[in-house]
Amino acid sequence: MNHRVDAPEQAIDFNNENSNTSANPTFDAVLDARLSRRGLLRGGVGSVGTAVLAGFGVTACGGSDDPVVEPPAAPKLLGFGAVPKSLADNVLVPAGYTASVLFALGDPMAAGVAAYKNDGTDGDFDKRAGDHHDGMEWFGLGADGKRNDSATERGLLAINHEATTDEKLSSHFLHADGGTTSLPRPAAEIDKETAIHGIAVIEVAKTGGKWGYVQNSAQNFRLTALSTIEIAGPARGNAQMVTKYSPTGTTTRGTLNNCGTGKTPWGTFLTGEENWFGYFTRSAADDAARGNDKSVTALKRYGRNQGAASRHGWESGGADDKYQRWNISKTGTSADGSDDYRNEMNGMGYIVEIDAYDKTRMAKKRTGLGRFAHESAAFGKVEAGKPLSVYMGDDSRGEYIYKFVSTATWNPADANANDRMAIGDKYLDSGKLYAARFNADGTGTWVELTLSNTAISGYSAYSFADAADIAINTRIAADAVGATKMDRPEWNAVNPANGEIYFTLTNNSNRSVNPTGSQYLPDAANPRAYTDMKGTSSQNGNPNGHLVRLKEGATATSFTWDVYLFGAEAGADKAMVNISALTADQDFSSPDGLVFSKATGICWIQTDDGAYTDVTNCMMLAAVPGSVGDGAKKTLSYTKADGSKLDIVTPVGKPATENTLKRFLVGPKGSEITGLAETPDGKAIFVNIQHPGEGTALANVGDATKYQSQWPANAGYGAGKRPRSATIVITKNDGGVIGT
Ligand code: FEO
Ligand code: CA
Ligand code: CA
Repeated sequence: MNHRVDAPEQAIDFNNENSNTSANPTFDAVLDARLSRRGLLRGGVGSVGTAVLAGFGVTACGGSDDPVVEPPAAPKLLGFGAVPKSLADNVLVPAGYTASVLFALGDPMAAGVAAYKNDGTDGDFDKRAGDHHDGMEWFGLGADGKRNDSATERGLLAINHEATTDEKLSSHFLHADGGTTSLPRPAAEIDKETAIHGIAVIEVAKTGGKWGYVQNSAQNFRLTALSTIEIAGPARGNAQMVTKYSPTGTTTRGTLNNCGTGKTPWGTFLTGEENWFGYFTRSAADDAARGNDKSVTALKRYGRNQGAASRHGWESGGADDKYQRWNISKTGTSADGSDDYRNEMNGMGYIVEIDAYDKTRMAKKRTGLGRFAHESAAFGKVEAGKPLSVYMGDDSRGEYIYKFVSTATWNPADANANDRMAIGDKYLDSGKLYAARFNADGTGTWVELTLSNTAISGYSAYSFADAADIAINTRIAADAVGATKMDRPEWNAVNPANGEIYFTLTNNSNRSVNPTGSQYLPDAANPRAYTDMKGTSSQNGNPNGHLVRLKEGATATSFTWDVYLFGAEAGADKAMVNISALTADQDFSSPDGLVFSKATGICWIQTDDGAYTDVTNCMMLAAVPGSVGDGAKKTLSYTKADGSKLDIVTPVGKPATENTLKRFLVGPKGSEITGLAETPDGKAIFVNIQHPGEGTALANVGDATKYQSQWPANAGYGAGKRPRSATIVITKNDGGVIGT
């Protein structure tokens, strides 16, 4: 959601939380230990073999000069014509493709729910599509309506509804007059807003050659910001989870700001809770009320200083508990927090597992995977008899990359178990959590977050009590071990051809060669600090973002890495900015969504940009990547303000060519492109268009001529002209595979 580059004029941006003021990295002793370990491990990194996917001639070859090999009969990947950059208010796809709107904000998803009027008078939002469609996964259905992993024309889409287009508290397109912009807010407005958050599971089918969603399917369901969800893993029942709603600390209400996704090898949906902290308010005197205990340290590290206002003022709806729970001040007199919501925020910030096939099963927050601003959760190579790995990023400036490794080793029979949530208990509730340190020489270390590490057990800034404390306050544990501050880790995805892990690093205004305040120097994994002009406004730091990729080493704690691609404008300086030598058919800014196609091996890169939006709306590109180490080291030579030199040497992947990177889609005005699911045959992809028209002022709600966007109404979809987030489906007119 509105992951614009944090320009100074944006006073409030809930996506650019900036609470990593830790002194990290300063832990020389830890670093020294890692350096010596690294020396031992370097020799053990072998080259990657070649894998050919599904007859499409995608190869991922370690060190090969020719990463694309085309068997005679295989369709050529990226055979489409590049879509030009565009500022038009529509969805552009290549010639020979069709994009159709499938499921938009407010669409009814149960029998008897009225069509969406889209004029601010609709209700029943817990039975309608939510807002700000984001990450998405496909779950195939057979003719019997049951799970079928090879189904290609009927399935469930599990869709994140991350947030809402808002201004001064109100999600203005949901209310007839734009809604209230001061406290208290009417309960009726709040009830709509809590209901459009969460996730949707919706049945979709291709009938008569056309895709649509099934309004009356009994398998459809929503989870909202108020649905009951179980706490699972190390934090379950911990003292920090105790609330008035759950004195045992075993449940909470709602999943919030759901961004990236994942799909487990046993067929469940994973959703990441991202910018949840902004929804809570905390009184101006709460530090003292808490006795300045360690909960205050944790709240500050997670973006809630005392006096913080909430994004929507949901706490102001009245005395009902469903409103009061958004106030996390200590208001009660109990010692354990069972008479107020002082601990309520500890119930948000997790990867949540949901059985998309069975709405009767309660969702579970998998606390073992840590608590931060979660994006996607991607599984590494799944191999019988070996632990499962789940990769994750924390999207705020200067936050970290993480890996969870299960205690249980993979039993292939679990892939088709009937009780999927029980399989989730087996693999996701017990394991090791690691944070990534990127070394300057292209090696890296996964540092385990455990009390056995004296950097954590002896950390001076926060006294960790137990494993639950690390699961809840993961960021602080990662500070303690000196994890590498990254340029806002967004989604990650695993290349099915070789198991390498790709991360988008969307942008970071805090990167500077002359750091002041909370800024920090560029480093090998985050090597750029430059100025890009947007009109007359300077955008500093790393305004266009980049992608790093990791290759696991011989042990669970070692990896190698390089920078796969740098976002940039095609005309930018090729030595310091457009280092990947992007052309006009490829240039992009602020990579965010990231999904590998299992059908073709294409790596889909989606943008949520504010830096290049004077020239183009957000977009989606198709990439055919090589592998870690297929490029060369580059030196970025900076001159600091005092005249001294700063050289950053970084390993960079092979430059993109027209055969390996091409723009496939450009979205409507004000939108970001996010989320991608595909049918197993690769002949249909589902993509989300989030927050078209988000630049529309609340004062203009009701005057369609002043909307920044009228999509999807201007594409012939639905009533009213208010812009709506929506899922689209893209097919090839000749019935072929997408991206060929
Ligand atoms: Fe919701 Fe950081 O993307
Ligand atoms: Ca520019
Ligand atoms: Ca995103």
